[in-house]
Amino acid sequence: MIRLAHFSDIHFNLPSHQVAWRELAHAKRLLGWLGMRASRYRRLAGARTIAAALQADIAQQQLAGVVFTGDMTCLGLPGEFEQARQALEPLRQRQDVVGIPGNHDAYVDEAVGAFERYFPGWLRSDLPHRGWPSPFVRFFGDVALVGLESSRPNLPHDSSGEVPKQALWQLDSLLDHPELRARHVVLALHYGLLRPSGAPDHRLHGLRNADALMQLLPGRVALVIHGHMHRRFMLPLGNGSWVGCAGSVSDTKRSQAYHLLEFEDGVLRLEARRYNSTLQAFEAWPDAPHAGSFPLLER
Ligand SMILES: [Fe+2]
Ligand SMILES: [Fe+2]
Repeated sequence: MIRLAHFSDIHFNLPSHQVAWRELAHAKRLLGWLGMRASRYRRLAGARTIAAALQADIAQQQLAGVVFTGDMTCLGLPGEFEQARQALEPLRQRQDVVGIPGNHDAYVDEAVGAFERYFPGWLRSDLPHRGWPSPFVRFFGDVALVGLESSRPNLPHDSSGEVPKQALWQLDSLLDHPELRARHVVLALHYGLLRPSGAPDHRLHGLRNADALMQLLPGRVALVIHGHMHRRFMLPLGNGSWVGCAGSVSDTKRSQAYHLLEFEDGVLRLEARRYNSTLQAFEAWPDAPHAGSFPLLER
């Protein structure tokens, strides 16, 4: 049995007095910062407190590994990354964590590559990297976890992503590797492939080349896990594959939860653990929507 934890969208952010004006000398960052001030990110609870609760809870679980699917920060600022690095030091030190950046981490050109510098161990690959930084793969028993970057800087009011064409080709060839064909393949990326309703995401919010990516998956990828949407759900992707979003651990307007994914005897069991802000701790969520058992694609 292999058990993984999946969390996403923790969104570390700085109080206004810690943001230098020169750091806002970019339309995207300035508008993002104003949006945070106006309310949009006020609902993001203290990431530092949640990081402590999350790590305490994760330490209690019998896990083969931990997966983070992006949006470590809000504006991709060095101060936000530094806060994240300090708060997540226990997870940063572990050898069994896989992580990829989200659009808020690659918010502007100068933020590109920061996530990889602050959390280099999270992008380690058990096979030679097909491309840098992704795709890469980590093996957890009979589960192969493929990390795929899909975030890039955007113009203001655009939070879409795209997997670079070259990374799609490299992913295509990686999925044919015998070490992957013999395992349950889980693909981790920031952007979802479908909205919770099953419809494609909007052009200014979703993965621009979701269709091209989805064409590579049938018969090869058992499960896609992602963040970005701040909503928890699990959907069939067709051809026996599944797609699951863990939501955001920090977004107080949604269920602040993370997922436990258990792979055993051809079945995936999904369990959610929810943040209790009174106790400042995560706890079991037995009747969580979308939790349960899902048949896995035959290997
Ligand atoms: Fe997010
Ligand atoms: Fe995002």
